[in-house]
Amino acid sequence: MAVSPPPMLSGGLPFIGHIPEMMRNRDRLFKRGHKELGDLFAVKLGPMNVAVITGAEYNKQFYMETDKSLSMKEGYEFLRASFGELFFTASAETYYNQRPVLQEAFRRERMVGYLNAMNIEVQAWLDSLGDSGKVDLTAEMLKLTQYVAGHAFIGKDFRNELDDQFWEHYKAISEALELILPTNLPLPKFFRRDRARPKMVKTMSEVVARRKQNPGQYDDLISVLLQTPCKDGAPMDEQTIINLFIGLIFAGHETTAGQGAWLLALLMQHPEHLERVMAEVNEHVPHGADVTHQMMSKLEYTYWAVDETTRLRPSADVQIRTVHTPLAVGQYQIPPGWRVMVNAANSHMLESQFSDPETFDPARYSPERGEGKNPFAIVGFGGGMHKCTGMNFAKNEMVVIAAKLFQQFEVELLSDDLRVVAGNGANHPSPVWVKYKRKPSAS
Ligand code: HEM
Repeated sequence: MAVSPPPMLSGGLPFIGHIPEMMRNRDRLFKRGHKELGDLFAVKLGPMNVAVITGAEYNKQFYMETDKSLSMKEGYEFLRASFGELFFTASAETYYNQRPVLQEAFRRERMVGYLNAMNIEVQAWLDSLGDSGKVDLTAEMLKLTQYVAGHAFIGKDFRNELDDQFWEHYKAISEALELILPTNLPLPKFFRRDRARPKMVKTMSEVVARRKQNPGQYDDLISVLLQTPCKDGAPMDEQTIINLFIGLIFAGHETTAGQGAWLLALLMQHPEHLERVMAEVNEHVPHGADVTHQMMSKLEYTYWAVDETTRLRPSADVQIRTVHTPLAVGQYQIPPGWRVMVNAANSHMLESQFSDPETFDPARYSPERGEGKNPFAIVGFGGGMHKCTGMNFAKNEMVVIAAKLFQQFEVELLSDDLRVVAGNGANHPSPVWVKYKRKPSAS
């Protein structure tokens, strides 16, 4: 019978445990843990014990036990300070009450409007690049994914409704995300967050008010949130709608920007795969045309490249829960009060699941090879009930960006020392500098 807690990783310091090592490089810490102790080990972050798990079997247990013996609320407390009380930063009861509204916002039919916004904003970005030049794609993706989210969720007039100040405030909030330290310490970044939040809320209150006054004029995410009742039949209150909007921008912004930048970089680093992507793009998408849903369904290899990027460079590399009732995992028992973390980076590198796991190889998902079929082997978008609601949105956006960029430009990668930069919101690559030159439109 399972009675002892998971084995503690060596190297923890008195009182602070593994905090310094985690802050320096959590990927290296978790890789060391996996190498020393296997698929389940513990680290200590100050007073907190954290069980770190790897592999499809334990990942499945993590997702299936969520909202049962495992809770999301406390683990994501650091998000609550920035984004308020909603979905998984609230109680499971609140989450299940609000869930139908979220599902409505990402219904398949709504994706047509979102795809239209993606095409317009990606093309506008490409047009703004001129005929040739040099850019850092990591920084460009941060801006572009902001515009796509703004356009998709608020409509084509979003630049008037969400001015530059809004994004500055958003930046202050997002920079204050803090995985380890208490979020109420008297630190400058927390003061900046607390000054920025009310200003963002004010802008959003005005956005909501305009839709309430003229409901017929808008068909956007805010209108959906205003019109769709929760499970209990009551409408969402305005504060929750605002929190949800800001939360969605956060959930979809840096994650997609980071993974999008990696997708472009990995394709440039592997010209043989870029060639296969471009062969199918050029076959199905006329040069410079909008990428329609029908065309997208033909871009199989491009979607595999997106999946391979999720596996190799997951932007949401850790997901967190708190143990409420004792949880038996393998031969161990994780006690109440402990945190549990899924570590995507380790799970995605298991030789038992992936051949030659360090290699960027989109063809591994072809029906003949069939890798990654286990839904809990690749967990870059989570799993189970709370699996990312915006996954298709994000994947489509990355496909539109890659297809349009490489179809319209010759792009040469200049940075040769790319590395993962860990963020508290999401991981992203170090600057991806490229040289680009517009292709003649007939090519
Ligand atoms: C590459 C981009 C993205 C990545 C890597 C990503 C990753 C994730 C992960 C790992 C989770 C599960 C968290 C957990 O179980 O602890 C999640 C949940 C979620 N994501 Fe994403 N996400 C991305 C893009 C988006 C976008 C574009 C949106 C919406 C605009 C979005 C909205 C959400 C929401 C609402 C949830 C909560 C789902 C629930 O609790 O039911 N995400 N995401």
